[in-house]
Amino acid sequence: MFALLTVLALFSSTLSAPILGLSPGTENASATGTTTSLALANVESSLKRPAQFARVAFCSSASISNWTCGPPCTALGNVTFLQSGGDQGLIPLYYIAHDPTDNSIVVAHEGTDTANILSILNDVELGLVDLNVTRFPSSAGKGIQVHSGFQQTFERTADGLLAGVSKGLSDTGAKKVAVSGHSLGAAVATMTGAFLKQSVDPSVDVSLAVFGLPRGGNQAWADFLDSTVGVTYMTNQQDPIPTVPPRSLGFQHPSGEIHSFDQSQNNFTSCPGQDNEHCSTGNSVLEVNATNHDGPYFDDITFGRTRSGCT
Ligand SMILES: *[C@@H]1O[C@H](CO)[C@@H](O)[C@H](O)[C@H]1NC(C)=O
Ligand SMILES: *[C@@H]1O[C@H](CO)[C@@H](O)[C@H](O)[C@H]1NC(C)=O
Ligand SMILES: *[C@@H]1O[C@H](CO)[C@@H](O)[C@H](O)[C@H]1NC(C)=O
Ligand SMILES: *[C@@H]1O[C@H](CO)[C@@H](O)[C@H](O)[C@H]1NC(C)=O
Ligand SMILES: *[C@@H]1O[C@H](CO)[C@@H](O)[C@H](O)[C@H]1NC(C)=O
Ligand SMILES: *[C@@H]1O[C@H](CO)[C@@H](O)[C@H](O)[C@H]1NC(C)=O
Repeated sequence: MFALLTVLALFSSTLSAPILGLSPGTENASATGTTTSLALANVESSLKRPAQFARVAFCSSASISNWTCGPPCTALGNVTFLQSGGDQGLIPLYYIAHDPTDNSIVVAHEGTDTANILSILNDVELGLVDLNVTRFPSSAGKGIQVHSGFQQTFERTADGLLAGVSKGLSDTGAKKVAVSGHSLGAAVATMTGAFLKQSVDPSVDVSLAVFGLPRGGNQAWADFLDSTVGVTYMTNQQDPIPTVPPRSLGFQHPSGEIHSFDQSQNNFTSCPGQDNEHCSTGNSVLEVNATNHDGPYFDDITFGRTRSGCT
C-alpha cells in the first residue's frame, strides 16, 4: 500500500506541471501494432541468462569477484569474473565477466530499490539534458536528450568499463558482448550498450537485454537506440517503473518490449514499435503493482539487494 501511494504521488507530481505546460498532441503517439504471443522456450533461451547475469549485479562485489555469490552465481555455472567498478553506494556496481557457454563478454549493471528509482525519476532537477556528444560522436546534431541522473551515473564508470571490455575481448578472443541490467541498471545499461556498440570493433556483436526499464530519454534517443544497438526489454505485469517518466515530459521508450501479462502462466508478448499501447504503456495508473518491478521474472528470478538471494 505504501508503494502504491508513493507511485500515485509520483504520477501526480510529475504529471501536473507538463500537462499545464504542453498542449495536447505534442506528445509522440504510442505504437498500436498487434502484439504476438511468444513461446516460453524462445523467451527463456534469449532472456533468461541475461536476467541471471543482471541478478548477480546485486550481490557484493567481493563475492562476485570470486564467483561465490550463492544461488545467483551457481545458476550461471562456471563464469570467469574479469573486472568490477562502482562502489555500491553513490556509484552503482557494474561487473564484466567471460561466459564460456557462448564465448561472450558480459557486462551487467546493478539496479536500485523501487523507492530509490522513484526518487531519482521524481527529482525535478534531473530532467532531460543533451547526450554527451563527445562520447557519442555519431549522435551529433540529432537533438538527443537523456535523463540527467542516468547519464551522470553512466559517466561515472564509462571509461573504466570500456577499457575492461576491450581487454576482455582481446584476452579471450570473444566476438560478442552482452549487456544487461535491471531498473536503474537497465537505464544505465542502454547507455553502455550504445556506447560499446560504437566503441568496439564493428565485427563484435553487441546485444542489450534489460528488465524493468524506465524511460531514459527523448524520441531522438529512442530512435538512436533502435538504429544502433537495438534493445530488448522485459516488462512485468503492472510494474509502474516502465511507465515513468511520462511521455508528456518528452520521454519515449525504444522498440523491443517483451511484456509478461501473467507470471504463473508464463504468458509473454512481443510488443512492436515504441511504447506499444497494448503493453506497459497501456497499463492503468490505478492498477499499478510496485512489487512487480522486482519480479519474479520467469518463475524464479527476483531482483534487488535483499531479494536476489545472494549469500
Ligand atoms: C515525435 O516523433 C517524431 C519522429 O521521431 C519527432 O520528430 C518529434 O520530435 C517527436 N515529438 C516530440 C514531442 O517528442
Ligand atoms: C571469495 O571472496 C570472499 C570475500 O573476499 C571470501 O570471504 C571467500 O573466502 C572467497 N572464497 C573463495 C572460495 O575464494
Ligand atoms: C572453469 O573454467 C576455467 C577457465 O575456463 C577452467 O580452468 C576450470 O577448470 C573450470 N572449472 C570447472 C569446475 O569447470
Ligand atoms: C563527455 O565524455 C567525455 C569522454 O568522451 C568525458 O571526458 C567528459 O567528462 C564527458 N562529459 C560529461 C559532462 O560527463
Ligand atoms: C495472455 O494475456 C493476454 C492479456 O491479458 C490475454 O489476452 C491472452 O489471452 C493471454 N494468453 C494466454 C495464452 O494465456
Ligand atoms: C503484486 O505482485 C506480486 C508479485 O510480484 C504478487 O505477489 C501480489 O499478489 C500482487 N499484488 C496485487 C494486489 O495484485
